[in-house]
Amino acid sequence: MSRESKIIGIISIKGGVGKTSVTANIGAALAQEFNKNVIIVDANFSAPNLGLHFGLTQPSVTLHDVLSNKVDIGDAIHEYDKHLHLVPGSLLNEKINPYALREKVKKLKAYYDVILLDSSPNLNDELRAVMLASDQLLVVTNPDFPTLSTTMHAVKVARQKRTPIVGLVLNRVRGKSFELSVEEIEESCGVPIIGVLPEAITMPESVAETTPATLYKPHTDVAVEFKKIAAALIDARYRDPRFFAQFRNLFRTDPRKEDVNRDMMRKGILY
Ligand SMILES: Nc1ncnc2c1ncn2[C@@H]1O[C@H](COP(=O)(O)OP(=O)(O)OP(=O)(O)O)[C@@H](O)[C@H]1O
Ligand SMILES: [Mg+2]
Repeated sequence: MSRESKIIGIISIKGGVGKTSVTANIGAALAQEFNKNVIIVDANFSAPNLGLHFGLTQPSVTLHDVLSNKVDIGDAIHEYDKHLHLVPGSLLNEKINPYALREKVKKLKAYYDVILLDSSPNLNDELRAVMLASDQLLVVTNPDFPTLSTTMHAVKVARQKRTPIVGLVLNRVRGKSFELSVEEIEESCGVPIIGVLPEAITMPESVAETTPATLYKPHTDVAVEFKKIAAALIDARYRDPRFFAQFRNLFRTDPRKEDVNRDMMRKGILY
């Protein structure tokens, strides 16, 4: 078994907040920047679309075949590149037992450093199965009240299931005054924010290009933030290579809360 192998579930109980985008991009960042062996699994059983982010339109074998015991999970692995593999889902919606997920993905720990599980936005057996199969959860949220209320609920359910939450990822931030702040969201949820991703046209554009933004436009703000989140998850550090970012940081007197949280995570203070 890989020494640090862990299964991280990417969850929210609201649709469209960015779970699949976060899964694809953190997976790509871990594989490309940090040479980790990564597998991403589409556990959004009713509406899978993780494969589309990588140009996989009609996978021959899927997680559905695994969960209906037709094939072994090893036979459902698609190789995107050397370090990044994928288990896609099927839109045909065969009858499956979502709770078999835990036992099936556990087998992957012997071969991969990080296993990321994308999930359903509905608080149903599909999402509960991901919570139970994960060693840790990353909760994706947006800076608005409707999303915050569902995020608070997701945190509560995860705690009931006793799956540790590694942090929140705040996505689609436009920097508008009406948006909820990092502090307000952290205080409401009682969970630190370990990444703040801007609203970025690169995100839907990269889906159309079937290449995660971290690979498609690696030097954009959104891509760099994905790499920083990926680094924190494996206890590593990512230094923004862009000259302007380094110059700006020289004069920064107020560190960003998410940077502080990531530092604390690395020092083992956060958990
Ligand atoms: N930071 C961002 N900036 C701009 N668009 C984004 C951003 N993050 C995600 N999107 C877009 O928002 C849409 C929904 O994203 P995504 O599919 O990742 O959400 P999801 O939480 O997985 O949705 P579902 O719950 O339906 O599975 C997509 O079109 C995606 O490209
Ligand atoms: Mg999704």
